[in-house]
Amino acid sequence: MANKLIIKEETKQEKYESLYIQLKSLTQDEPDLIANLSNCTSVIKSFFGFYWIGFYLVKKDQLVLGPFQGTVACTRIQKGKGVCGTSWLNKETIIVDDVDQFPGHIACSSESKSEIVVPIIIGNEVIAVLDIDHDQYSTFDSTDKNGLEKIADLTSTWF
Ligand code: SME
Repeated sequence: MANKLIIKEETKQEKYESLYIQLKSLTQDEPDLIANLSNCTSVIKSFFGFYWIGFYLVKKDQLVLGPFQGTVACTRIQKGKGVCGTSWLNKETIIVDDVDQFPGHIACSSESKSEIVVPIIIGNEVIAVLDIDHDQYSTFDSTDKNGLEKIADLTSTWF
């Protein structure tokens, strides 16, 4: 009888668990913030192939573009503006199924259709946000939210 090769596909949650472990080991001996944020965008991109992924860092009263993977993006976002600025203001993760339906959405690319923004919080202060765009509608769910919030907690230790 021929041997059957059974390949079990990883669930999204399992992928987030592997991603977290890989990211932790990749960054544990490196004290530089920009180096770690940069590798973080690369690892997330290689696991999920998102259209755009990057960090915006709080600098005074604005978010300023940090390490990212993808097409050219807007460099500064005001508090309360767009998905990123709203996540900063409300100190919560925002999932957008259709970016055209989000009031005040800031379009950096017409390819972007759905988005998730996760705040990175130290104490009670947002110090950065993690922004991810997908080129299809309705792609982010509670598994992404939980997985990315855990990654955001890890990134907060690099600041
Ligand atoms: N769409 C974001 C702006 C950043 S880009 O997606 C890279 C927003 O509305 O805040």
